[in-house]
Amino acid sequence: MVLLRVLGFSLALILVFTLTANLLPQVEGEVPVEKEIDLGALTMDSFVALGEDIYNNKGTCTLCHNDSGRAPDLSAMNTVAAANRHLKNSRYQGKATDAAAYLMESMVDPGIYVVSGFGKKGSNDTESPMPAVDKPPIQLRAVEMDAVIAYLQAKDGNKITVELPSEAPVSTAVAPSAVTTVAEASAKYGCQACHSMLGTESAVGPELNTIAQRMGVEEIRQSIIDPDAKVAKGFVGGMMPGDYLDKMSARELEMIVRFLAEGKE
Ligand code: HEC
Ligand code: HEC
Repeated sequence: MVLLRVLGFSLALILVFTLTANLLPQVEGEVPVEKEIDLGALTMDSFVALGEDIYNNKGTCTLCHNDSGRAPDLSAMNTVAAANRHLKNSRYQGKATDAAAYLMESMVDPGIYVVSGFGKKGSNDTESPMPAVDKPPIQLRAVEMDAVIAYLQAKDGNKITVELPSEAPVSTAVAPSAVTTVAEASAKYGCQACHSMLGTESAVGPELNTIAQRMGVEEIRQSIIDPDAKVAKGFVGGMMPGDYLDKMSARELEMIVRFLAEGKE
């Protein structure tokens, strides 16, 4: 019995350590990788912390959901209250009957309800620019989306209605490792959340598969370092993060620039 308790305590400690380690600022040149964690030992508090971490990192949610005005600033508003309001809107066409189901729907099928003023340009709020987060490149698992919902509910003091996962172990992104490929750099900085490249699609920004045909090395580097200096035709400024110069190592930046300009690594 004592042995079991000690064992349980050590497991909990390891889990808390793994979770908090990932909340610390990441070392330059590192990218989150998949790692096995025992979700069976989770408490609701650490599930919420996992959700917050996924929201800020693997989920790339904050690339768009921030104070730029290009997507609702979920961290600055009561997202559950907004969900309840939108459920009652006559434009709502989904199947959800409560806020948790609405939030899940928003993640896997963003077009079901497009928040007014935030639709794709020219679509009159009938199409969402948000990518389905359970599909590549973001590819969250059901349990990870549940954790995000738990976080969105908890952050404003709303009742947490999602259940703790019972099946274990499952893997999720927790530990950083070194960036060595363009795909890893893109995953770290969320390029594919907004751009079609490396085999995935997103129309938030210009497609980058054939960028070499319209831009040279210098221009490409400049548009990553200072995106709004020259806004691409047909797109609006203010969406692409403007702090890549601070965040990327020179090696990461040059790797991406060279890849885009030459079409190969
Ligand atoms: C590429 C940009 C982008 C990314 C990445 C993104 N979103 Fe969104 N999201 C949007 C935009 C724009 C809207 C508003 C249009 C709409 O309603 O679909 C939106 C809408 C939503 C809504 C509906 C809000 C409401 O009040 O009805 C939720 C919930 C949401 N996003 C959650 C998330 C979560 C969680 C993630 C990360 C796992 C995420 N989003 C990633 C752009 C993005
Ligand atoms: C949150 C969405 C978002 C993210 C994340 C993002 N971009 Fe962008 N990007 C845009 C938008 C929107 C534009 C067009 C408007 C502009 O030029 O500022 C753009 C423009 C560009 C352009 C210029 C393309 C042209 O045809 O003029 C390049 C190159 C580019 N992005 C590369 C990247 C790379 C590389 C990354 C990742 C390190 C990245 N972007 C991340 C939204 C994003």
